[in-house]
Amino acid sequence: MSSLRLETVGAAAPVQDALVRDWQHVHNLIIPPHFLSLDDVRERSTRNHLEVAYLGDTLVGCSTVRPPTSESPAATVIARVLPAYRERGFGTQMYERGLARARELGAESIETNVLGSNPEGLRFAKRRGFVEIETYVLPGDTIPYIDLRLES
Ligand SMILES: CC(C)(COP(=O)(O)OP(=O)(O)OC[C@H]1O[C@@H](n2cnc3c(N)ncnc32)[C@H](O)[C@@H]1OP(=O)(O)O)[C@@H](O)C(=O)NCCC(=O)NCCS
Repeated sequence: MSSLRLETVGAAAPVQDALVRDWQHVHNLIIPPHFLSLDDVRERSTRNHLEVAYLGDTLVGCSTVRPPTSESPAATVIARVLPAYRERGFGTQMYERGLARARELGAESIETNVLGSNPEGLRFAKRRGFVEIETYVLPGDTIPYIDLRLES
């Protein structure tokens, strides 16, 4: 299987604007009801660990690790792969890397979040031991989000 090149948004890389744009592109394509501006992404990169995945120079996906906090001891790990690159093991590579980082950050439990219109995401999470804990529709939205927790 091919290995991804993973770049961190917000690290001291010379191509930060491109990383922010690429992370935003993948996020907004996969989660259209939750549009994030470039400034939103920059702000998130100060709180969360955001990565962009490339195959050579080709954009493949992005990920989020939201660290545990004193209010919420669970970390959130989300992998996103562009539809054209799915079912080649990239989502697993990104998810496992995010999981390892969440554990390094001291997470007592791991959660993820899937948009209800992404059945592949729900199946992927459940196959890796996540169980549904909450389904909700945000104000003004019609598609539910599903929160899941890793049980193992
Ligand atoms: C979830 C998501 C990241 C998976 O990405 P992906 O790149 O397709 O993930 P993988 O290729 O690693 O695994 C997907 C399936 O393809 C299978 N697969 C992997 N390599 C394969 C290959 N070469 N041939 C056929 N199938 C393959 C895997 O076994 C896996 O099946 P399983 O989930 O039943 O175990 C992607 O569907 C996505 O971005 N969804 C929207 C975002 C989301 O909901 N994320 C979930 C929260 S983590």
